[in-house]
Amino acid sequence: MEITALTDFSSAAIEQAFAEVLADAQASIAAPSFDAEAFRLEWLGRKQGRLKALSDAWLKTAPVEAKKLIGQRFNALKEQIETALENAGSLNAKASAATLDISLPGSAQSLGAEHPLIKTMAEIVDVFKRMGYSLRLGPEVENDFNNFESLNFPPNHPARDTQDTLVLADQEKRPLRERLLMRTHTSPVQIRSMLSEEPPLQLVIPGKVHRNEAADATHSPIFHQVEGLCVGPKVTFSDLKGTLDHAMKALFGSSVKTRFFPSFFPFTEPSADVQISCIFCGGKGCRKCKHSGWIELLGCGMVDPNVFEAVNQRRIELGREPAYDPAKISGFAFGMGVDRITMMKYGISDIGLLYSGDTRFLAQFA
Ligand code: PHE
Repeated sequence: MEITALTDFSSAAIEQAFAEVLADAQASIAAPSFDAEAFRLEWLGRKQGRLKALSDAWLKTAPVEAKKLIGQRFNALKEQIETALENAGSLNAKASAATLDISLPGSAQSLGAEHPLIKTMAEIVDVFKRMGYSLRLGPEVENDFNNFESLNFPPNHPARDTQDTLVLADQEKRPLRERLLMRTHTSPVQIRSMLSEEPPLQLVIPGKVHRNEAADATHSPIFHQVEGLCVGPKVTFSDLKGTLDHAMKALFGSSVKTRFFPSFFPFTEPSADVQISCIFCGGKGCRKCKHSGWIELLGCGMVDPNVFEAVNQRRIELGREPAYDPAKISGFAFGMGVDRITMMKYGISDIGLLYSGDTRFLAQFA
C-alpha cells in the first residue's frame, strides 16, 4: 500500500487528508466486490492494516503540536469505518431477505432410514436379549492378547498373519501381546468381559470387524458379527444346541430346522458349524442353497479350557480372583456374520452395496 506523506500540518490539511482516507474506505465498502472479512483484514488488521500503517507514518513525521489532533482523528476514523462496515453487513442481510421468495417449493429434507445391517443386527441382538442375554460392546482397535493369544491362537497361526489381520503401524517395539490391530472378530469381547466380570455370564456382542481381504461380491474388508457367550456351572453342549435352535427359529420362522457339523476354532472345543434348513425352498433344494437344502450360518462350540486358563492368568496379573476354574465352570460361544444374514434376508447379491452409501439402494429399506 502506498502511503502519501503528510507535509502540511494545518488543521484544514489534516481534516482533508482524513476525509480522503474515509472516502477511500467507503468506496471499497460500496464496491460490488466488497468482502467484509477481506476488508476488515486490509483496513483494520492490527499488525498490517492500512489504518495502522497510516497512523504509524503520519504520527512519526508530525510536529509535536499536531500529534494530538492526528491521534484523535485516527480514533474517529476507525469508528467511522467500523460503523460503515456494520451498516454494510445489515444492508446485505436485508438484500438477501428481499430475495427470499416464499412461494417457491421448499427443499424437502427426506427422513433417514435405519441401515439394513443395523436393522438385522438389532433383530439378532433382540432375540438373545429376550432369552436373558445382556449387551456388551468392545473397541475395534484391539490388542493381540484379546484378539488372539487368550483365544488360544498359537503364535504362528495363519490368522495372525498380516495377510488377514490389519495391524496398526509402529507396534514392533511392543511385546507381542500388547501390539494393536483391528479386531478380526468380536470374540475378544468375550475376553474383555471375563476379565472384568464374574460368572455366570450370558452376553450378546454385536460389532464391526476388519480383515485384510480383497473386496468382491461376498467379501468386504469390513463386516459385522454378533457374538454370544454363556458361562456358568454346568453349561452343556445341549444348552448350546437348544439356544441356537430357538434363536434360528425366532429369526427365520418356526419351521426352520438346524443341524450341527463338527468344525474347528482355536477357542472352542468341541466346535461346530450350524446350518439351517434353506429358508428359500424349505429344504427341498434350490439355487440359493446349492441344491443341498441347507445354509451354513454360524460357528460355535464349548469354550476351550485353555481360554478360561488364559483369562484366570490375566485376572491374577490384574489383581483379581481367577473366578473361571475350568473344573467348575463351563460355557459355550457362538458367532455369526450379520452381512450374510442381511443379504439373505433382503435378497442382496453384492456385499459392496451395504457399504456404498448409495441412497438409491438405502432408500429401499426406508
Ligand atoms: N470368532 C469366530 C470367527 O470370526 C466365530 C466364532 C465365535 C466361533 C464364537 C465360535 C465361537 O470366525
